[in-house]
Amino acid sequence: MAIKISLLTSLLLLVFNYALPFSSMASVENRKPYIVYMGSRPEGEERLAASRHLSLLQKSIGSTFSSDYLLYSYKRSFDGFVAYLSEDEAQMISELPDVVSVFPDEELELETTGSWDFLGLPEEVDRSNLESDIIVGVIDSGISPESQSFDDTGYGSPPSKWKGSCQVTPDDLNFTCNNKIIGARFYRSSGVFGSSDVRSPRDTNGHGTHVASIVAGGLVRDASFYGLADGTARGGVPSARIAAYKVCWSSSCASSDILAAFDDAVADGVDIISVSIASTALNYFGDSISIGSFGAMRNGILTSTSAGNTGPNARTIRKFAPWFLSVAASTTNRKFVTEVVLGDGRILEGISINRFDLGNDQYPIIYAGYAPNETAGFNGQTSRLCGQAYSLDANLVRGNIVLCDARITGPAPSLAGAVGVVVANDTQLDYPAEYLPYPVSQFSVEAGLQILEYIRSTGNPTATIHKSVETYDIWAPYVASFSARGPNILTPDILKPDISAPGVSILGAWSGSVPYHLASGTSAAAPHATGAAAYVKTFHPTWSPAAIRSALMTTASPISRSGWKNTVPEEFASGAGNINPIGAKDPGLVYDADANDYASFLCGQGYDTPTLRLITGDDTTCTAANNRTVWELNHPSFAASVPSGQPFSRFFLRAVTNVGSAYSTYTAVITAPPTLGIHVIPPTLSFTSLGQTLQFVLILRGELDIGSSGSATLVWDDGEHKVRSPIIAYSAAASDFVANYAQPEAAAAGVSTI
Ligand SMILES: *[C@@H]1O[C@H](CO)[C@@H](O)[C@H](O)[C@H]1NC(C)=O
Ligand SMILES: *[C@@H]1O[C@H](CO)[C@@H](O)[C@H](O)[C@H]1NC(C)=O
Ligand SMILES: *[C@@H]1O[C@H](CO)[C@@H](O)[C@H](O)[C@H]1NC(C)=O
Ligand SMILES: *[C@@H]1O[C@H](CO)[C@@H](O)[C@H](O)[C@H]1NC(C)=O
Repeated sequence: MAIKISLLTSLLLLVFNYALPFSSMASVENRKPYIVYMGSRPEGEERLAASRHLSLLQKSIGSTFSSDYLLYSYKRSFDGFVAYLSEDEAQMISELPDVVSVFPDEELELETTGSWDFLGLPEEVDRSNLESDIIVGVIDSGISPESQSFDDTGYGSPPSKWKGSCQVTPDDLNFTCNNKIIGARFYRSSGVFGSSDVRSPRDTNGHGTHVASIVAGGLVRDASFYGLADGTARGGVPSARIAAYKVCWSSSCASSDILAAFDDAVADGVDIISVSIASTALNYFGDSISIGSFGAMRNGILTSTSAGNTGPNARTIRKFAPWFLSVAASTTNRKFVTEVVLGDGRILEGISINRFDLGNDQYPIIYAGYAPNETAGFNGQTSRLCGQAYSLDANLVRGNIVLCDARITGPAPSLAGAVGVVVANDTQLDYPAEYLPYPVSQFSVEAGLQILEYIRSTGNPTATIHKSVETYDIWAPYVASFSARGPNILTPDILKPDISAPGVSILGAWSGSVPYHLASGTSAAAPHATGAAAYVKTFHPTWSPAAIRSALMTTASPISRSGWKNTVPEEFASGAGNINPIGAKDPGLVYDADANDYASFLCGQGYDTPTLRLITGDDTTCTAANNRTVWELNHPSFAASVPSGQPFSRFFLRAVTNVGSAYSTYTAVITAPPTLGIHVIPPTLSFTSLGQTLQFVLILRGELDIGSSGSATLVWDDGEHKVRSPIIAYSAAASDFVANYAQPEAAAAGVSTI
């Protein structure tokens, strides 16, 4: 790999605590990998980067310096390196004038837990002939080149702008690119691999393949997961090309590798980037996805990223930056239900994805709380959760269906020889229980009590579990419970997430034993937004990342609260609402912004001129004129974190650019609760040409009790376009919005007796 300076497999054992049968070397003791970020790259000195980095290291470390300490030199779109440093050295280097920030290389995690039709983007839709020139960069766990979704029949050669490559290694000579997967690379600066890892861009996990197929998989007829979700699998932009950047391995994904992948993707010429990897940092410049996507944005490339799977509570989102798109996961109208038939003839409908059918034969059913493995020290209180290995008594459970009280069961049922599992737990009833290697169906606690009553009422209780069937969810879409929620704890006056997209029970290509898999998570949502953004870009190839984001956000369909009884205000769950790709093609107006605007925003957040210059790569200065408040960032949503119990007022400065009809007049339509007073000045905007930009001010006034919020909307309406922005004012409280959190009505039934 071009950017890899040295492979220090043995050196890293100590650092990564990875169980490999080698002894570690002492030389990196007390040192850990740190990322030294030096801002965007000055033009034309790529060749010298590594030697410049080495000499900087040598000067800083002094006599104990070894060239092996330099792990990576970022060579392409931004400047920086990864090196083994002690804490003191890291601190010292962070104070050097050319260094923007130094932070430990973190190990991050992948986010796992007929969507395009549901979004109104059918197979037969108006498509631009530029679609096959669009290149989607997917930073994830690699890709399965053999998947039918990436068959290149009918694709021409890669677009001429493509400058990337396909990394084939002796470890996996079967890995090849084609005219669909036009590029593939892999990154592992630590040099540490698990036994299932293949040193190639090949996906051995399934995640990266799933994500890539949602964005840009070709049409595959009769795809299904064991007959479930049968239909045509396809991506949002099925003609587009894919470049896979593998950064996630069996153990984790390193932030240094994510940065390297961004660096290459930008230089390779991708048009859009999808990243479904978790962030944990609580600042912009300690987060590889924030940094990488800033560089991408400077180069005209929008990054779409998963909001995270840490919901449903308030303040769980960790994807903060206003220059990328944070995508929440919503449901589609396709829901999987799984019937359990009890021995007395009652049929109960639970929620799961179950590919097995026990048929009409009845099996004995036992409550896990009645079957503890006492010789191993378990009692009913511990065995009822079916969690720990050997917590169930095999003599009682073997050949039975077992009723467990936890949503996620451990290995206990299979170790005890259960034929199936019925789960009764109110946690996250809005999406199907995880796929297990045996039949499963999930119910509410209340339904579980009915089953328990039946077990108690008869000497010979029996049941069976049927294969799941697809039903229609009238409540859809609503945001899934696992989807991470705002408010934004880094910049409280930037609304996050930005938008929602389907992320529950999504059929996508997979690697390994099954060709297609049904998966849930914001990981599946982000690629829907990436696909929609790519679709918009095929019609508007010159639009900036901010313009594309604006088009997606202002045309999104607001999500009603009827499905998921959210006490977190809906804006903190779904942002502007559920994505609408066709609408986004013709938004009428866009809220545009460029790297300078984001720089001015950062300046107002307290970053100084030298730091900014390194990030922007130009002579941007933090002056009085270029030091903007968060309310002046031209963002397509409005958020105000306000003190409680006292009157507040906020002035938001915005500008909209006409991309609809040359002559058009838009009127501001405000919808607001009585607690908020909102004025827009001027209330009408008259455009006389395309590309014309007009400014307005939105004044937000009110008074809010602690822990409360007010939701409003601004719509610029010209009779043809409705350019909609969410407005949310909230007063902060440690426990805000959490206390009344409730299960969705849609799922609360969890069970119905037919
Ligand atoms: C490569 O592909 C061939 C033909 O499909 C197969 O027999 C072989 O096992 C593959 N090798 C590896 C390392 O996967
Ligand atoms: C109880 O657990 C032990 C392991 O701790 C296991 O060997 C044994 O088979 C279990 N007993 C039954 C009856 O399942
Ligand atoms: C639901 O499952 C979780 C673990 O997955 C467990 O901690 C909790 O106690 C269960 N709830 C009930 C009501 O048993
Ligand atoms: C920018 O404005 C902020 C807030 O008023 C202030 O704290 C900061 O010092 C200003 N920075 C510069 C360089 O003027």
